[in-house]
Amino acid sequence: MKPKYALFILLALASCNGLAPTVDRSADPAASAQKVFLAYDAAAKQLLAKMTLEEKVGQMCQPDQGALKDPADIEKYFLGSLLSGGGSGPKNQADYTLQGWTDMVDAYQRHALNTRLGIPLLYGVDAVHGHNNIPGAVVFPHQIGLGCARNPELVEQIARITAEEVRATGINWSFAPCVAVARDERWGRTYESYSENPDLVQVLGEAAVRGLQGAHLADPLSVMACAKHYVGDGGTAYASAAWNEGRGLDQGDTRCDEATLRRIHLGGYITALRAGVGTVMPSYSSWNGVKCTAHKYLLTDLLKDELGFAGFLISDYNAIDHLDPDYKKCIEIAINAGIDMVMLTDKYAVFCRDLQELVAEGRVSLARIDDAVTRILRVKSALGLLDKSRPPLADRRLHRTFGSAAHRAVARRAVRESLVLLTNERHTLPLSKTASRIHVAGVGADDLGMQCGGWTISWQGSMGDHIPGGTSILTAIKNTVSKDTAVTYAQDGSGARGADVGIVVIGERPYAEMKGDSAELSLPQEDLDALATMKQAQIPLVVILLTGRPVILGEIPAQADALVAAWLPGSEGQGVADVLFGDFEPTGKLSYSWPRCVSQLPVNVGDSDYDPLYPFGHGLSY
Ligand code: BGC
Ligand code: BGC
Repeated sequence: MKPKYALFILLALASCNGLAPTVDRSADPAASAQKVFLAYDAAAKQLLAKMTLEEKVGQMCQPDQGALKDPADIEKYFLGSLLSGGGSGPKNQADYTLQGWTDMVDAYQRHALNTRLGIPLLYGVDAVHGHNNIPGAVVFPHQIGLGCARNPELVEQIARITAEEVRATGINWSFAPCVAVARDERWGRTYESYSENPDLVQVLGEAAVRGLQGAHLADPLSVMACAKHYVGDGGTAYASAAWNEGRGLDQGDTRCDEATLRRIHLGGYITALRAGVGTVMPSYSSWNGVKCTAHKYLLTDLLKDELGFAGFLISDYNAIDHLDPDYKKCIEIAINAGIDMVMLTDKYAVFCRDLQELVAEGRVSLARIDDAVTRILRVKSALGLLDKSRPPLADRRLHRTFGSAAHRAVARRAVRESLVLLTNERHTLPLSKTASRIHVAGVGADDLGMQCGGWTISWQGSMGDHIPGGTSILTAIKNTVSKDTAVTYAQDGSGARGADVGIVVIGERPYAEMKGDSAELSLPQEDLDALATMKQAQIPLVVILLTGRPVILGEIPAQADALVAAWLPGSEGQGVADVLFGDFEPTGKLSYSWPRCVSQLPVNVGDSDYDPLYPFGHGLSY
């Protein structure tokens, strides 16, 4: 090749990665993987041709089941989808069980089958670390821990199991994976992000999509995945004024040029598209002051036209409400920007009416509605939902393996692979199983709720012992040591004197989006006190951190003889004991840079003045 042409091609490639939105990427693996959906167009278009406008807008509407005034409203408004928001399950507490959830979802599905065209519902849920809303499900480590495990095969396997447990309840769609690249740990959703590093997010996000969707979406053990939150949710800027007004980093503004947005935040969507992801959720956040939910360039020009996304866009929970004071205007802006389905709480009647009016008034074109509905029906068809010979109800045989020992074994493995050994003075770890007494302290030692964190049973999660089938770290320690070893426990750290070794389990209390934003990243005083009390006993101390992100450690590294970041490991505490007692070597490597202090934030690998407490990739072994 003549050097002149080589240079030309190089320049063309460079502009592809940079700013040229009009480049034809149809030869890309991402765009060609998306073409799979086009195979379902014939079925989708055939159905579309039979639909009234009322039936079409119904397909575009997704209320939270908990806000339905009457389940028959599914028929009345021809609803195409429902969701269970965090903790939105059967209203009667006694039915908040595997059985109750399954009955609830099937009952809704039967209403959809009663409509004129009988189009089944897509039913969405946040199965973000297992089927985490349902008691008895296996709860996997949150994504930050999987980022430290750095094992795409494991992520895929976890997603396969999650899909199977979701399917057991009749649900066919999970709002996962989150492919955020969290750049500032003060963000309360940091634990939902695999890493501050885009490459790691791209690889693991792709593996999660593969696992959830399986080899084939029509496989009865697959669920539809959803890459979220498009785009730049993890890059929102810290502004002290906003914090003082009570607004954190969540739902904020990502301020950067387009090349930076593409370089850091876009890649996870490209790999998710390549894995065939069928849905994408635009972010509550903004890019340079414009809300992603209203961003026609990002949604339509970039994602659909340039990258070839052939599935559909689901707006985030009531996200369109933030676009304008007038709700009808909100709908107009969102649909015209490219949103195909709208997630909302209870405004479904208004939404369906207003959207029909917008079409009648020429403010939203029928072509845009037809495009949105074609996309939705395409995805439904790919899932096998338009196949009348396959009723869309739960396969209750799957209840037998729900939360099974085999599923838990994979979670346990994920826990041990996700642990990061930060320090280990004088070979404090691994511990002996035959010590005469091990004294355990800290509120996290025997609290499954804290071990699982947010998005567990409820939206924000909570402390306590409400996660059936799980193993706390304290129980795991007792399970592991010899029968002659005494394991004593005092939450406040008292009574340690004379023990061979002390284990203190401290960390963050459960939280999720919004409520989890933190300007200080400090640990509760109660936890620091328990550690100080243990310290007085002058025995070797192992500190285990249950945390959704690197927190500011202060004196802790000086007080601890060994320090382990266990993140939010989920229901299988045995995986922590596996590493503590040396049955497995620690192999986890930090997927985040651990900051020294808050004033240093944001700190990310590649910064020119990079000087974290523990660098990205840090992690000791024995
Ligand atoms: C979150 C999403 C989630 C949705 C449904 C929103 O508040 O931002 O991540 O999928 O709720 O629960
Ligand atoms: C729901 C969550 C949702 C949030 C949005 C909550 O009530 O349970 O799923 O993310 O509202 O604000």
